[in-house]
Amino acid sequence: MKMINLAILFSGNGSNLENLYKRLNDKIHNDKMIHFPIAISSKKNAYGIKRCENLGLKCEVLDYNEHKLGYDMKLMELLKGYKIDLVILAGFMRILGAEICANFKILNIHPSILPLFKGANAIRQSYESYMKIAGVSVHYVNEELDGGEIIAQDIIHKIKDESLESFEDRIHALEYEIYPKAILEVLDCTR
Ligand code: GRF
Repeated sequence: MKMINLAILFSGNGSNLENLYKRLNDKIHNDKMIHFPIAISSKKNAYGIKRCENLGLKCEVLDYNEHKLGYDMKLMELLKGYKIDLVILAGFMRILGAEICANFKILNIHPSILPLFKGANAIRQSYESYMKIAGVSVHYVNEELDGGEIIAQDIIHKIKDESLESFEDRIHALEYEIYPKAILEVLDCTR
């Protein structure tokens, strides 16, 4: 059976990583086996590393602070070494350059209705905005921060007087639903 190799790149908590692994690893989709041979952390103390250990998912640390020079090249070598077909960013706090974006199909999830609230503070900004809805977006990655074609989006309605924590939990719950589905959609169009 043909195997589709996915790599998850992360920098922090890793809750999307854990969800994706549990939902998709070793699942058969369109006569192909989805497999996660590797996860890569850009931070050596990311909590997601512990999650990988618990899940039995092999994890490599390519710490950005220790490998600033030629970071993307090192990342590409790693991805090629594991014969990766699709790269999944899940809380990966680096902007990737044009070359790696041209060499790999890369997806990202962002906790806002893009193009609104790009960047690292999206959840707080959409919580504090006057908008009545908030949401999440899955998109292809290009060299622009949270740029690239949108693959999937979904929304939640704001609840009056809801705490930031509760709002954040609902955003994450939406991410856990939308990201695996969007990945399967992308795989449908990938040979
Ligand atoms: C998620 O909110 C994701 O949308 C954003 O970074 C966060 C990562 O959370 N890109 P986790 O590390 O998956 O828990």
